[in-house]
Amino acid sequence: MNDIALTVQQTARPHGFPTTGDFAFVESPLPEPAPGSALVENLYWSVDPYHREMMDDVPGGFTLGAPLEGRTLGRVVASRTPRLREGEIVFHRRGWRTHSVVAPEESRPLPRFDGVPLTAHLSVLGGTGLTAYVGLTRIARLREGDDLFVSAAAGGVGTATGRFARLLGAGRLVGSAGSAAKAGYLTREVGYDAVFDHHAGPAAELLAQVAPDGFDVFVDNVGGEQLAAAVGALREFGRIVRVGTISQYNTPDAPPPRFDHADIVEKSIRMEGFLVSNYRDVQEELEAFAVPHLQSGRLALDETVVDGFEHIVDAFLGMLRGENLGKIIVRDISQTPS
Ligand SMILES: NC(=O)c1ccc[n+]([C@@H]2O[C@H](COP(=O)([O-])OP(=O)(O)OC[C@H]3O[C@@H](n4cnc5c(N)ncnc54)[C@H](OP(=O)(O)O)[C@@H]3O)[C@@H](O)[C@H]2O)c1
Repeated sequence: MNDIALTVQQTARPHGFPTTGDFAFVESPLPEPAPGSALVENLYWSVDPYHREMMDDVPGGFTLGAPLEGRTLGRVVASRTPRLREGEIVFHRRGWRTHSVVAPEESRPLPRFDGVPLTAHLSVLGGTGLTAYVGLTRIARLREGDDLFVSAAAGGVGTATGRFARLLGAGRLVGSAGSAAKAGYLTREVGYDAVFDHHAGPAAELLAQVAPDGFDVFVDNVGGEQLAAAVGALREFGRIVRVGTISQYNTPDAPPPRFDHADIVEKSIRMEGFLVSNYRDVQEELEAFAVPHLQSGRLALDETVVDGFEHIVDAFLGMLRGENLGKIIVRDISQTPS
C-alpha cells in the first residue's frame, strides 16, 4: 500500500465548460481511522454528470478546497470496527481520493455474484443501472410492446435503458448519440433499432427519420432541443421520463426548450422527473432482475474504463464531452481484483 494519499479538490467555479484548472490533486499522509471507522484503499471510481452540477455554487454543491464526493469501490485495509472486515470490498461515496475513512453507516459491503465483475456495481447494478431500471419500471411504467426513444443512448444510463427495455419486452427502440460510431455500436450490440447522431441537424427532423410513426415513451437524459422534438413526436398517452438535462449543465445561459404546451393536454402526455436517490429501496429488485441475465450472458456490460487515479479529472471532463461509451469508470490498475 502507498503511504501517501491523493485527494482531488475543486479550486474554482466554472462558468460553462470546466477545465483541469478547476481542480487540484492534493497529497497528504495516509488518514488514520478513528475508533468505529475503517481505512479503505479505493479501487474503482465513478465520475458522473451530477458532479458537474455540484461544481456550481448551489445548495449541496462541492465546497472549494475540500475533498469531493462520488460513488467508489474500495478494499478495507485497516479497521477499527467489527462491522467492516479487513480485506472486504465495500461501496461508499467518499470518492475522488485514493484512500477514504468510512464508518459502517456510510458504506456497504458488496454482494458478490458469480461471474459478475466488480465494475458492474458502478454500472448496471449501481446508481446508473438503478436509474435506468426505475425510469422504465416506476416512471414510464413500461408495457410490453411500448416503443421508446432514449436520448444520450450511448451513455451509462442510455445503454442500460436500452438493454433493460429489450429484456422487459419493449417494441421499437430508437435513440440519439453523439457520433455515427456510437450509433453503430447501439444498433449492433445493445439492441437499438435506429439511432441518430444529434450533431447531424435539427432534432425534430432527425427524430422523424428514425421514428416516423412516433413512440410511446421518451427516456430523456439530455433535455433541450431533443425534449422539444420528442413532445411533438410522442403518441397519445405518451410518457416522458425526465432523467437528466446534460445539454444545459455547461451552457447556463442557453434558453430552456420551447415546445407546444397544448401537445401535453391533447395527447394526454405524462412528464415525470425523478431522483434515483429516492428509489434506493428498488436496489434488491434490480439485482434480482439483472444478475441472472448477466450470468446467462443475455445482459452485457457497456463500460469505458480509464486506468489510473491520476486520470480521474480527465475522465470526468471526457465524459462531459461524450468520449465515453457506456458507463465511465476509473480504476486503480495496480490494485484491482477481478
Ligand atoms: N435522475 C437521476 O437520479 C439521475 C441519475 C443518473 C444520471 N442522471 C442523468 O442522466 C444523464 C446521463 O447520465 P450518465 O451518467 O449515463 O452519463 P453518460 O450518458 O454516460 O455521459 C454523458 C453523455 O452525455 C452526452 N452529452 C454531453 N453533452 C451533451 C449535449 N449538449 N447534448 C446531448 N448529449 C450530450 C454525451 O454523449 P454523446 O456523445 O452521445 O453526446 C456523454 O457521453 C445525465 O443527464 C445525468 O445527469 C440522472
